[in-house]
Amino acid sequence: MSPHPIRMDVRPEVKAFFDPATNTISYVVKDPGSAACAVIDTVMDIDYAAGRITYGHADAMIAYIREHGLELEWIIETHVHADHLSAAPYIQGELGGRIGIGDRIMVVQDTFGKIFNEGTEFQRDGSQFDALFADGDTYRVGGMQAFAIYTPGHTPACMVHVMGDAAFVGDTLFMPDGGSARADFPGGDAGQLYDSIQKVLALPDAMRLFMCHDYGPNGRDIAWETTVAAEREHNIHVGGGKTREDFIRFRTERDRQLAVPKLIIPSLQVNMRAGEIPRDKDGRPMLKVPVNGL
Ligand SMILES: [Fe+2]
Repeated sequence: MSPHPIRMDVRPEVKAFFDPATNTISYVVKDPGSAACAVIDTVMDIDYAAGRITYGHADAMIAYIREHGLELEWIIETHVHADHLSAAPYIQGELGGRIGIGDRIMVVQDTFGKIFNEGTEFQRDGSQFDALFADGDTYRVGGMQAFAIYTPGHTPACMVHVMGDAAFVGDTLFMPDGGSARADFPGGDAGQLYDSIQKVLALPDAMRLFMCHDYGPNGRDIAWETTVAAEREHNIHVGGGKTREDFIRFRTERDRQLAVPKLIIPSLQVNMRAGEIPRDKDGRPMLKVPVNGL
């Protein structure tokens, strides 16, 4: 028996917004029984070379929510992303809603608070977020029950969020031909990632899985939706009964060859603050670069 309140008969409408600059997919998820909705993993646009922030991607989501007369209740982050910046506060300012993330955000804040040499004004208690989820916590989007599952490995604070027959897997899994996300960031762990992926694969076969990223491997078109059954059978890193040892060996070897994500430095500073841009002592929005510090 699953410990989770799974409702495969509840089928939320899921609208995807693909960001070609970072290969991120953001979602608007609508309760089938009301106008309530949630957004998952939003993106703030940055031209890092110019230090310029814009909101084209977030504005498209806001326009969609307004045009459809939806009420935004939740702004969910599956984890502290290292490859794009969250637009959570901007969207909250326009539409309301509560910003939520896994409660192990405190571990991430502690790690990167040190790396970025943040002062004591940077709280490492998750208080920048409106809600912190523990493993198995439930919450509601209108009449639809949702829940969160701890899925550490890519980062310590990763969670998968399930709403009806749809699961938002963050960076635990990619599409079957994309495999899995890296596990070499500070606090990452390939063995933990394998165990977390098993939790996702234990969900019902027909559950819809929505990815946070897709890179269109081997020239195929960008895709973001699959099922538990398809991942279990075909995922190139964990499907078809690959062992934990196989996965750890492969993942560790592959991660050694991966370049650092282009936006990791601004992403971590912003995302560990729930999407707020840090400020200097005079209150101006300002980012740091720790030299040889990552
Ligand atoms: Fe990530």
